[in-house]
Amino acid sequence: MSLTENIHIGRPTNRVDGRLKVTGQAKYAAEYPAADLLHGAIVGSTIAAGRITALNVEPARQVPGVVEVFTHENRGKAAWLDRSWRDEVAPPGHPFRPLHSDRILFDGQPIALVVADSYEAARDAASLVSAEYEVREHCTELERKRSEAYVPPEKRSGIPPPPDPRGDPEKAFEDAPIKISRDYRVNAEHHNPMEMFGTTCVYEGNDKLTIYDKTQGSQNAQGYVTSVFGLKSKNVRLINHYVGGAFGSALRPQHQLFFAVMASLELKRSVRVSLTRSQMFHIGYRPDNYQTVSLAADREGRLRSIMHDAVASTSHYEDYQEAVVNWSGMMYHCDNVKLSYRLAKLHTPTPCDMRAPGAAIGVTALECALDELSYEVGIDPLEIRRLNFASKDENTDKQFTSKALHACYREGAAAFGWDKRKSVPRSMQDGHDLIGWGVSTGMWDAFLQKAEATAKLSADGKLEVSTAASDIGTGTWTILTQIGADAFGLPLEDVTARIGDSTLPTSPVEGGSWTAASNGSAVQAACEAAKETLFKHAKKMANSPLADSEFEDVAVSGGCIFRIDDPGKRLAISEIMHAADLEEIEEEGKVGPDLLQMMKYISYTHSAVFAEVRVDEELGIVRVTRIVCAAAAGRILNPKTARSQILGGVVMGIGMALHEEAMTDHRLGKIMNHNLAEYHIPAHADIENIEVIFVDEHDEKVSPLGVKGLGEIGIVGTASAVANAIFHATGKRVRDFPITIDKLLAA
Ligand code: MOS
Repeated sequence: MSLTENIHIGRPTNRVDGRLKVTGQAKYAAEYPAADLLHGAIVGSTIAAGRITALNVEPARQVPGVVEVFTHENRGKAAWLDRSWRDEVAPPGHPFRPLHSDRILFDGQPIALVVADSYEAARDAASLVSAEYEVREHCTELERKRSEAYVPPEKRSGIPPPPDPRGDPEKAFEDAPIKISRDYRVNAEHHNPMEMFGTTCVYEGNDKLTIYDKTQGSQNAQGYVTSVFGLKSKNVRLINHYVGGAFGSALRPQHQLFFAVMASLELKRSVRVSLTRSQMFHIGYRPDNYQTVSLAADREGRLRSIMHDAVASTSHYEDYQEAVVNWSGMMYHCDNVKLSYRLAKLHTPTPCDMRAPGAAIGVTALECALDELSYEVGIDPLEIRRLNFASKDENTDKQFTSKALHACYREGAAAFGWDKRKSVPRSMQDGHDLIGWGVSTGMWDAFLQKAEATAKLSADGKLEVSTAASDIGTGTWTILTQIGADAFGLPLEDVTARIGDSTLPTSPVEGGSWTAASNGSAVQAACEAAKETLFKHAKKMANSPLADSEFEDVAVSGGCIFRIDDPGKRLAISEIMHAADLEEIEEEGKVGPDLLQMMKYISYTHSAVFAEVRVDEELGIVRVTRIVCAAAAGRILNPKTARSQILGGVVMGIGMALHEEAMTDHRLGKIMNHNLAEYHIPAHADIENIEVIFVDEHDEKVSPLGVKGLGEIGIVGTASAVANAIFHATGKRVRDFPITIDKLLAA
């Protein structure tokens, strides 16, 4: 057995759960069976602000099969204090408490849960629940609330507020020979994962529950349930084995979880509650926003001043926050910077993290503005980015642990053929079509979070690794299996990864692109610990050939532990376990941020995105014919699943550029396109060539594995690259996303 035979990290490995998913064997939260299962259907308010004055639930109660109708008048027991409802990633404010009172703060707010013995009966009965309201004035239109925007009084944990201004940005702007100041807007977007929110709460008796929930964090959701309902932690197990996409929408516990558990505890029965596609539009969204970016440069294009102000929507009950403008202080070198970020309250649910929250919209505005500036200076848009390269994070004055962005520019440009670009807008045509080429930089966090794992090696040489991570489609099952397999030189079939269960070793929610780095490193640490224990037992054996060896001298592969420099000196795992009278070896691994290192260093993922569009100017139709995304993300564990993450991000970025937006009738405070027919996400026909490049980047500081994470970087910079390409094609600048046909025709 050679040392390299079972090396899986770095190989384009198929998903270990792929077969289960495509054959329908992988079960999602709303698919688990339970004896005597009841079904809940949620009724939403029809007004956006006011109070319920009367509820008529009698017609619903008359429907055969209906067991109970819960409203704020007969809601089950739940915690009173706000803080009991706060989950790990909640923003400051008062978390939403379903059916807490008669007060309505957004359209579609749940006002009743109908529980019946069939889903059909529950849905039918739900349609018969009606309410009378005392209607108050509502506002869902951010523009009308811009003047009331405020700096959030309490900061959201984990989200850095904009840094203090540096230099004298106003004067530098005033004095600079070349300047622009532009307003941008990215309209509100909604997460549309394939799997809709669902919870199956299995009542096991005596307030003991097994809950199958669609969530990005089994332990976050489990903690919410125990806290809201005052249950013992050991009595609540929450499972999220498979998650059909989420994009951030399942970071926080959503209200179907509350409803399923509340009804289950009240009725002492198992209950399933799932949301309809339409109801998915009432659980949080990427905030609507207005942004102003002012940039000034010298005649060569060196940035002299950057000012970026953003106003974003939040709800009336929480101050949702994300880092929108901070990127403008660290993506490029500039001595004079002023960044501001404010919120405005609307009658909507609280916005919710959506893939690259903050960066996806903030970087879009900055990168469009920088493109505009490049034309003012008369310099190539890629060149202006290279020229203003930031070699440290100027917001915090910290060094980057690595930043292979120049390689992204170089390799991306080469693959795209950027050198063949004609600089003048409207100068590249093909028959009837105008062709445009645009570029953008992307940047996203590379976090290492606290995470724990166990590794269990059995006498037959098989390995099981466990951590309460989630796989929301990102490939977590697969990379954890690869990491375990490499540690013990095993084929993938001999390794089982256990994730998606609150009873497993502690894990953060699956988000922020940190899972591969954090849970992956924890699994590796656990494997190393198990290997060391195995080695100690091996060393202790009578006449051990490894008696004089140190742990650093040995490796494990092919069911044996052996000296690397003298592989003949070896012992079989089964022999060692037998001699030590062990069935298995189980050890723990833990990782977390290195606080000392964090005083000096900060970590980000970087990218360069190149876009080609073809525009039929008479019809206003834009086709994105090519995207090249070159990313610097540290070590790539699995080029296949990694590439898929970038592809998904790029597709969402194209959606942001051209398709996705919530359309609200502000007179009613209602989202009108709450379905996939009218809320457009890119379909296959919208997507043409996407090329993904991972540039070499070695980073020993970012995480023990050298991994940075890839879930979000693919979206950052894509919408701006497309918008910049549209300008290059047409000479028209649309600053209001998505760039739909009407806007392009009117521009
Ligand atoms: Mo992501 S928005 O942290 O799921």
